Amino acid sequence: MKNNRVCILGGTGFVGRHLTTRLSAMGLACRIPTRNPQLHRSIRLNGAVELIATNPFDPEQLHARFSNCDAVINLIGILNQGSDSSFQRLHVRLPDLIIDTCKRAGVERLLHMSALNASTTGEVSEYLHTKGEAQNRVLTNSSSHGGLNVTSFGPSVIFGHDDSFFNRFAALLKLMPGPFPLACPGARFAPVYVGDVARAFAESLDNRKTWKKHYELCGPRNFTLQELVQYTARQMGLKRKIIGLNDTLSRLQGHALGILPGRPFTYDNYLSLQIDSVCSRDGLAELGIAATDIDAVVPYYLGPRSERSRYLRLRSQI
Ligand SMILES: NC(=O)c1ccc[n+]([C@@H]2O[C@H](COP(=O)([O-])OP(=O)(O)OC[C@H]3O[C@@H](n4cnc5c(N)ncnc54)[C@H](OP(=O)(O)O)[C@@H]3O)[C@@H](O)[C@H]2O)c1
Repeated sequence: MKNNRVCILGGTGFVGRHLTTRLSAMGLACRIPTRNPQLHRSIRLNGAVELIATNPFDPEQLHARFSNCDAVINLIGILNQGSDSSFQRLHVRLPDLIIDTCKRAGVERLLHMSALNASTTGEVSEYLHTKGEAQNRVLTNSSSHGGLNVTSFGPSVIFGHDDSFFNRFAALLKLMPGPFPLACPGARFAPVYVGDVARAFAESLDNRKTWKKHYELCGPRNFTLQELVQYTARQMGLKRKIIGLNDTLSRLQGHALGILPGRPFTYDNYLSLQIDSVCSRDGLAELGIAATDIDAVVPYYLGPRSERSRYLRLRSQI
C-alpha cells in the first residue's frame, strides 16, 4: 500500500468500529466519513482515525475523502427504510457513485459489504433485491487485474457484544414478561462473529486472489430463529415460552409493527426471512479463517459471564 490509508464508509457502525480497530492495529490510517462526527467522538480517541463530516452523496466531498487512500471500504447499509433513506438510494445509487468516484480519484481497491442471499432474481425483499443489484454492479465493474479491483462479502446475521440481533431480542424479552410471539420462527441463520467478518475484510485488502470475488460469510452452526431466541432467553436466565407464529400471523406482524415508531419488524423483514440465511460456500474457510461459535462470545455479553451480571453479583455481595 502506497499511502497506508483506507477510507471506511460506514466506519462508525457496528461492523465498521470492529474493522477500524483491526485495520488500525495493522498500522493503517483509517479515514471515516460520517454524517455526524459529534456522535462518534470516541472513535477519534484512536489517533490513527480521521473522522470527517461528509455527505456521502456529494460527489466532490466523496472525491476529497477518497484522495490519497489506497482502498475504499463500503459498509453503508440499512435494514429498514426511513423518510430520508431508501434502499434504492443507499444500496444502489451510493455504490454506483462510489465506483465512479474510486475511478476518478485513482483508488484501485474496493471492498463492498453486501448480504447473504442478495439477489435480483426471484421474489425477494427490497432489502435483498437492492443489495443484489449493488453486488452485481460492483463485481461487473471489477477487474481481475489492473484498474478497480473489487471484493464483495455476504454475511448471515452478525453477532458481537454491540450487535443489534441478540441485544435486540434480549431487550424485547426483558420488556415482555409473558409468552413471546415470534414471526417466522423456522427461518434459519448461521450467525457469524463480527471479529471474523472484520478479519475477512482485513485479510482480503491486500490479497489479489480475492479480486472480483464474492465471499459468503457464516458461523459454524445453523439455527432456526426460534432456537436463537430461546438461546438468548437461556443466556439471560429467563424462562420464556416462545410462541412461533404461523405464516399468516407473521405476515400480519410485519404489516402491524412496520408502522410503529422505530419499525421493530416490517413486511420487508418478513420477506427477507422467507429465504434461509445460511451459506452455500464457506467463505471464511476460503480466506483461512476459523469461524467462531456463538457459545464462545454471546455468554460474555448476555449471560452469567457478562459485565452486567458480574456487576450485579458484586453489588449483592456488598
Ligand atoms: N449487522 C448485520 O447483522 C448485517 C448482516 C448482513 C449484512 N450487513 C451489512 O453490513 C453493513 C454494516 O452493517 P452494520 O450492522 O455495521 O450497520 P450499522 O451499525 O447500522 O451502520 C451503518 C452505517 O451506515 C451509515 N448510514 C446509515 N444510514 C445512512 C444514510 N441514510 N446515509 C448515509 N450513511 C448512512 C452510518 O454512518 P453515519 O451515521 O456515521 O453517517 C453507519 O455507520 C451494512 O451494509 C449491512 O447491510 C449487516
